[in-house]
Formats: sequence, C-alpha cells, structure tokens
Amino acid sequence: MGGEQTVLLPMLHALQEEFGYIDDLMVPAVASALNLSRADVHGVVTFYHDFRRRPLGRHRVRLCRAESCQARGAAAVERTATERLGLRMGETSPDGRVTLDAVYCLGLCATGPNAMIDDVPVSRIDPATLDRLLGDLMR
Ligand code: FES
Repeated sequence: MGGEQTVLLPMLHALQEEFGYIDDLMVPAVASALNLSRADVHGVVTFYHDFRRRPLGRHRVRLCRAESCQARGAAAVERTATERLGLRMGETSPDGRVTLDAVYCLGLCATGPNAMIDDVPVSRIDPATLDRLLGDLMR
C-alpha cells in the first residue's frame, strides 16, 4: 500500500460517519475503489478499534476508562456494566438494544467516575446507580 492508504483511513471514517459502522460488504467496494486488496482493507478495519463492524445499539453506554476516572472507581462501575448487560466493552447486545463502549476522558475528570448514557453525561456514577440506569434501558 502506498498513497492509497492515506485515502483509505479518511474513506473508512467517512463511511462510518455516514452508516454508523463498516459493514463487511463495504470492504470489496472500498478495495476496488482504491486498487487495494480486500485483505488490506479488512486488515485496517479490524486493526483500528475506532472502526465499528456492527451497527450501534439503540442505546449507547460509554464508560470512561481514563486515569482520573480509574482513580475514582471506574473499574467497579465497568464490572457492574459488563455483568449486568452480559457484554464485554465494545459489544452490542444481540437484540440490538444496547452498545457498551469505553471512552477515554469525557472532560469531566473532577466529577468521576463518569459515564455517557445516550449522550447524557452521568457524573460520580457508582455501581448501584449504573445498575439502576441500565435496568431502565433494558425495560
Ligand atoms: S478521566 Fe474520566 S472524564 Fe476525564
């Protein structure tokens, strides 16, 4: 790969922006458009964790994993989320209801640990509060 690679990343970001994820069916078209192999494109899509390969859930729960929130108990909050939802970070529930994601700082460090639930920030979140909020999402 040469100059095509410099175009590949912006193209993939644009596709994800437009469609919400990079469907496997897009890979051959992208490869053809840039004269790359499907393996080249697939390799980039799977290497960079920013690229989502499945649609987002109807609800999105993002938990901050950055240092300040980690120092304030983010690991326990994350454990609650993964156990309650039965998901690992970055996964979407099979019914498409919720996506659980990590985020690396929401700019609210002084009030951590922090979460963003459907674009609403939740500060000083604790496992019990998160468990209740997740229960509301699952209804
Ligand atoms: S470290 Fe979590 S909001 Fe900044």
